[in-house]
Amino acid sequence: MARYLITSAIPYINGIKHLGNLVGSQLPADLIARYMRGRGHEVLFLCATDEHGTPAELAAAKAGKPVEEFCAEMHAVQAEIAKGFRLSFDHFGRSSSLQNRNLTQHFAGQLADNGYITEVAEKQVYSNADGRFLPDRYIEGTCPNCGYDKARGDQCENCTKQLDPTDLIEPRSAISGSTDLEVRETKHLYLRQSALKGELSAWIDSKTDWPILTTSIAKKWLNDGDGLQDRGITRDLHWGVPVKKGTEDWPGMEGKVFYVWFDAPIEYIACAAEWADANGKTDADWERWWRTDKGADDVTYLQFMGKDNVPFHTLSFPATIMGSGEPWKLVDYIKSFNYLNYDGGQFSTSQGRGIFMDQALSILPSDYWRWWLLSHAPESSDSEFTWENFQGSVNKDLADVLGNLVSRVTKFCRAKFGETVPQGGPTGEALIAELTTRLRAYEQHMQAMEVRKAATELRAIWVAGNEYLQSAAPWTVIKTDEEAAKGMVRLALNLIRFYAVISRPFIPDAAQTMMDAMQCDDWTWPDDVATALDTLKPGHAFTVPEVLFTKIADEQRAEWQARFAGIRA
Ligand code: 2FM
Ligand code: ZN
Repeated sequence: MARYLITSAIPYINGIKHLGNLVGSQLPADLIARYMRGRGHEVLFLCATDEHGTPAELAAAKAGKPVEEFCAEMHAVQAEIAKGFRLSFDHFGRSSSLQNRNLTQHFAGQLADNGYITEVAEKQVYSNADGRFLPDRYIEGTCPNCGYDKARGDQCENCTKQLDPTDLIEPRSAISGSTDLEVRETKHLYLRQSALKGELSAWIDSKTDWPILTTSIAKKWLNDGDGLQDRGITRDLHWGVPVKKGTEDWPGMEGKVFYVWFDAPIEYIACAAEWADANGKTDADWERWWRTDKGADDVTYLQFMGKDNVPFHTLSFPATIMGSGEPWKLVDYIKSFNYLNYDGGQFSTSQGRGIFMDQALSILPSDYWRWWLLSHAPESSDSEFTWENFQGSVNKDLADVLGNLVSRVTKFCRAKFGETVPQGGPTGEALIAELTTRLRAYEQHMQAMEVRKAATELRAIWVAGNEYLQSAAPWTVIKTDEEAAKGMVRLALNLIRFYAVISRPFIPDAAQTMMDAMQCDDWTWPDDVATALDTLKPGHAFTVPEVLFTKIADEQRAEWQARFAGIRA
């Protein structure tokens, strides 16, 4: 039995994620967590909400709520949706937790003690009306290049020119609209990533088995242009982890907080502490997942994320860990994803374009989405959601192939032999051989986290069962050889349990329905296919399940297509 620590990129608190976000982090992480558990491994699967930063503050202000209250509510909303998608986190934490505050301050103290932090004086725009410094993107004005009057302090959206806030004509606060702005000097902490460049480079170079998407992004940031830049890790904001050096005050840093991207990945660690605290466990219980001096030597740590998150996970967070000089676990494998597009364009959170997680669950059960998303995961390139493709997958793979097999076999048996597994002669040698080959391939793809390939193999395993049934044709054979027909049905009923076990990581609810219908609770992984297909013995009672998957009709598809064509309010 091996041990797997699995984390998904933690979603921002200020809004519900769309399906593109889901398929690039939480969903594949869940797939692999479920698979590893299914194989009998020990798994700790963690996720959380990413709660700090200006967007959270502004979203709370827009909702007219104190930011703490807003975050608590949104965390509950996201937790509920995660449950709806059957994301099997061992803990769904919060980056605003006390555990994360303590650990973030601890890491900053360690980094400072080890000489990896410098203090830099900067000039920044201060808004008197808002009583705060404004991040570049919260300053608006007229573009000096094209005259567009809603250019942002970092860039003009109209002509794409990169800007400095001081370039803007008639600058104003994007928060209040106030023009009462001034430039003030402020001091910030910088993480000296550049001093860790050699160590980071060697570490990335040692990861020869990582997806190219992951290493190419890491290497680009390591080597392009000026190479690895030092990063500001503090902000002049109210909401965040207060800047401290361990448990001590940091002179000159009063009233400042750590930058959200500094504390967010530390939440991966803090979340394990939250998990322990929430479940009456000890520090040793979570440290055995995270500290190599306390038992985490044999842990394999897997991270899942979209490609935009890769630089922070390949460089910044490892720099934090390396620079701490403490034996924290570094990630062993980073599985990253390209983007999923939506019906001829991009999913967009800011524009409300596409299908969001809550909307998806409001029209169809989670398995339909899980299957489509995972079988079309944007691994080697971007992929695209279209309603036609989604309809096709659901109707063919889930309804025609898997659902049909289950319903046909159980109904036929009930009609001819009653609701117990019949006694019949041995059969299905060729099927067992094919399933064995395919199952081994499926396992290899899952182990390698090749999500699409695994889905393709699983589909082929379903198809093989269907084809067996089609050509064995017990409904014809029964007329001449009842014993043989009974043998085929017995095998096919066992096939339903077998499918439940191996399909569970992809479609957990349908798997449960299939297992329940077989009145069985044996989720043992089928190491030997022939043995697995002999689990339900003659006389074992079963029931005919409800329809597993309902087909999507053309009119229904067209209606959803129209409903989700616009922009979400
Ligand atoms: O892209 C996002 O949604 C970020 N909130 C991911 C953060 S992952 C991490 F480092 F914690
Ligand atoms: Zn412009």
